[in-house]
Amino acid sequence: MSKVFITCALPYANGPTHLGHLRSTYIPADIYARYNRMKGREVLFVCATDEHGTPIAVKAEKEGKKPKEIAGRYYQMIKNDLESCNISFDNFARTTDPLHYQISQNFFLKLYQDGFIYAKTIKQPYCDECNRFLPDRYVEGVCPYCGGEGARGDHCEVCGRHLDPIQLQDPSCLICQSTPEIRDSKQYFFRLSHFQNEIESWLNENDALPPNVKNYVSQWIKEGLNDWILTRDMEWGIPVPLDETEGKIIYVWLEALLGYITSAALWAHRNNKSWKKYWDDKAIHFIGKDIIYHHSIFWPALLMAYGCKLPYTIIAGDYLSLEGRKMSTSKNWVIWTSDFLETFESDTLRYYLMANAPLTRDTDFSWDDFQRRINDELADVVGNFLHRTFTFTNRFYQGQVPEAFQMDNYDQEMVDKIKKLPIVVGEYIENFKFREGLVEIIKLAKQGNKYFNDKEPWKTVKSDPEIASTSLYICNQLCKTLAIVLNPYLPVKSLEIIAVLNIEEKLEWDSANSFIPSGHKILPAEPIFSKIEDKVIRMQKETLYQNQKEVDTVKEIISIEDFAKIDLRVGNIIGAEKVKDSDNLLKLIVDVKDKKLQVVAGLAKNYSPEDILNQKVIILVNLKPAKLFGIKSEGMILATKDTLNVLSAEGAAVGEKIK
Ligand code: 2FM
Ligand code: ZN
Repeated sequence: MSKVFITCALPYANGPTHLGHLRSTYIPADIYARYNRMKGREVLFVCATDEHGTPIAVKAEKEGKKPKEIAGRYYQMIKNDLESCNISFDNFARTTDPLHYQISQNFFLKLYQDGFIYAKTIKQPYCDECNRFLPDRYVEGVCPYCGGEGARGDHCEVCGRHLDPIQLQDPSCLICQSTPEIRDSKQYFFRLSHFQNEIESWLNENDALPPNVKNYVSQWIKEGLNDWILTRDMEWGIPVPLDETEGKIIYVWLEALLGYITSAALWAHRNNKSWKKYWDDKAIHFIGKDIIYHHSIFWPALLMAYGCKLPYTIIAGDYLSLEGRKMSTSKNWVIWTSDFLETFESDTLRYYLMANAPLTRDTDFSWDDFQRRINDELADVVGNFLHRTFTFTNRFYQGQVPEAFQMDNYDQEMVDKIKKLPIVVGEYIENFKFREGLVEIIKLAKQGNKYFNDKEPWKTVKSDPEIASTSLYICNQLCKTLAIVLNPYLPVKSLEIIAVLNIEEKLEWDSANSFIPSGHKILPAEPIFSKIEDKVIRMQKETLYQNQKEVDTVKEIISIEDFAKIDLRVGNIIGAEKVKDSDNLLKLIVDVKDKKLQVVAGLAKNYSPEDILNQKVIILVNLKPAKLFGIKSEGMILATKDTLNVLSAEGAAVGEKIK
């Protein structure tokens, strides 16, 4: 039986997961894993938390905790997030597992002994105050390429470049803020340059690699590969297994990649199996596009050096933005998985994130669009078709799949489409075109609704019972096929449909289009997909906007002319009421002497309408009007951002200008 080794990029154990992770990596990988299992292949689907590295060490240091404790906390959270989304890993390990230390050190040692890793003395920032070298994120400064501030030792977020810590201008130690000096330090390098040609041909000749991966990498290959520094001077990490390397650890990226192997090996020990057979048959990595470089250059080169088979392909999902803006965890412009799942079912998320756009395109999460797709596509199309079929079967056929009589062309056409659906969808999934597969499913469910309408069984059940019976026979078959082809995408909903259909056999992809016999008893059904109400979406949007934190830095300098454009006046609040369905918003009428402005203000958490009435406040009167929750807002009242205290202008005259 063919085997498949599927991995997901290891999430850093320094924060919970958000929708971006799920979209780029975990949901697509899970669909692929579930599909392969249904095809009868042996699947080994693994992941782990990435628990070393400077972000975790720095966080621990700032919180006065041990890095392992921080990592343990997030390991549990991440694991819960992913389980709640039904990501069906066979194993979810940790890179702090003792076996991982062993695997990583052995790997390092072999490459060293075979001459692929060598020592070299280089210059590194050293903090005298803290008495240590400052790797990666322990040092911050100005990016030498773009002048961006707050660049870290290894990376500039402004221009996206990979940096060497000694390149930073104006460097400072992240822990004590003092200026580091530059000292010599002996580090170990991987001979990446040696693999330039081999990597290039692997990339060129591997037809399974998708174009987004190939295109992305070709620029780096052209620039030429440099040897890669594989060690760091720090405590938190896996010790370098050589003599006289105390205080040095293996660079987190090398061992994180080996985390795939560790997770599989742990699974293999537990189940008394060999993971290697899976790897050698077909290994597929699902990742986000930001780590294409690591997976398509570093990783294959390391495997070449070790003498291991290379992965079959790398599937890299693009970015997800949120309401048209780049997601940012530091600005709280993000939707955390656990928050989402407090209100919505996981299958709605799986559906939306996959239906929204092809995996290899950046796309946006918008609350309105989410609601529209769930309501229009899942509830109105799939849900409606299932429900009317089940209800009709129960009502008119005592819950038994009715008989098929003579089929006309239309019936036959539907039967053909049902037979074809699993083949078409399967082919899309095999080619990682998850969205296209879903589109086909929805398309046929839509045709199912049309067929039901056209056949008018509610009339023919009396006038022409054979026609009604045949059409309901076909509709029940479509319900079954839909349930099975939806299974990798919507595992929970699929099983609910299967339960109503009262099917007990194992779910196999290749029997998705085998028909249920007439007379088979189905069960009474409640609607399987429900609609999302406007009110629920409104609350989510409100929370998102309220939670958003500005980063704690002074904004860019503006000129006095810019400031002069701002027209601030003293206003008196002469009307106040709560906005319906909102915990945060007040609708206010503000008298500014020559006119009265209507303002929707996010102050309800701190003021009742009575509290704020008759207060003299400062209001921006020349703000472009906007609609908030459908209500026109013509100005902005100045208040503190987090504590929501309005700036008082008591004692001033209404309409007075502020300058
Ligand atoms: O970028 C990241 O989130 C890394 N933690 C991914 C590691 S993937 C692989 F190396 F395991
Ligand atoms: Zn310091």
